[in-house]
Amino acid sequence: MFRSIFRLIKPLTLGNKTFPLNIIQGPLAGVSCAPFRLLTWRYSQPAFSCTEMISSKTIIYQPALAQQRYIKKDPQEGPVCFQLSGSDPIEIAEATKRVSDYGADLIDLNCGCPVNKIRSKGAGSSLLMNSNKLYQLITAMKQNTNVPVSIKIRVEGGSNDKFNMEIAKVVSEAGADFLVVHGRHWTEHYETPCNHEQIKFFVDNLKIPVIGNGDIACLTSLKQMFDTGCAGVMIGRAGVGQPWLINKLVAQMRNEQFVLPTLDEMGAVFMEHVLMLVELLGSEKLAILQARKFAKYYARELPNRMEFNHAVNECVTLTVLQDLCKNYFSPYTTCPAAHPDDHAH
Ligand SMILES: Cc1cc2nc3c(=O)[nH]c(=O)nc-3n(C[C@H](O)[C@H](O)[C@H](O)COP(=O)(O)O)c2cc1C
Repeated sequence: MFRSIFRLIKPLTLGNKTFPLNIIQGPLAGVSCAPFRLLTWRYSQPAFSCTEMISSKTIIYQPALAQQRYIKKDPQEGPVCFQLSGSDPIEIAEATKRVSDYGADLIDLNCGCPVNKIRSKGAGSSLLMNSNKLYQLITAMKQNTNVPVSIKIRVEGGSNDKFNMEIAKVVSEAGADFLVVHGRHWTEHYETPCNHEQIKFFVDNLKIPVIGNGDIACLTSLKQMFDTGCAGVMIGRAGVGQPWLINKLVAQMRNEQFVLPTLDEMGAVFMEHVLMLVELLGSEKLAILQARKFAKYYARELPNRMEFNHAVNECVTLTVLQDLCKNYFSPYTTCPAAHPDDHAH
């Protein structure tokens, strides 16, 4: 049993690149900019991390904004997959060229975003209903970069394999190097469990590597995703607020001990994340606004996390945030019982 789990962790070859590990940190809008990715790299060394979704129009027509936040890469961070969003093959071709010149290690096209503002422009998950356009977009990317190219999709849900088959066909014919599958339909919220059967469908029907994504947070869910036969896995929300998660999972897979940071260490990482954002965005206010989105993830282990989240939402200055952190992430606070997976293999 231990040996078979151990073997699931292995190098991952995607197109012309091989990564030492088959675990990826996925894209999360509002979170996945350079500070988040740098912390993930420092504590976990995933195969690569993804940028948040970046509109091809922003890259082309607002290069200063794109440089400042969206495509900013830290020299200290590991490999980065730049995720583009758009529906115009000419713009996607140009954006692909620009992010390649900027140092993208891989490039992905968002085909899963369920937000109306994106879908109404023919981008995100609405591309899944337009296979001709999807074909043009993938080929536009392939023709304008030498790095591996992928698309990240949602599944059809229900039992409509015909839809999934059509996507699998387009992805193969257009020459994508790999496919990332989030096992939910675009209309499904996060309470709906990830559909592993549909991820397996893509694994079984494609020759290129498939990366499975959805609900991975512990050893059991990681193993369940690998059971689909996917070549690699992508972690989403669970990686926020615990940049050491991938390292912890790898240690558990190898039956090695992993020492979780203490509460005050967790608080220190949260504050470092915020301070890096202040530097990146050049604004305390903007950094605090962004921090409000991910504070709840750092507070997972806090017994009084609801109170902490509420206090962060009210907070407007860095000094107050620092005091909050000192008080809540105190070494004298008792940590709740660890997740059963922290000890079990
Ligand atoms: C706040 C938030 C922002 C997200 N932003 C993106 C994004 O920019 N691009 C993308 O492809 N997926 C995005 N996703 C989807 C995640 O990458 C991932 O597919 C999804 O959360 C399922 O994985 P998980 O269950 O491990 O979180 C986002 C999800 C959340 C919760």
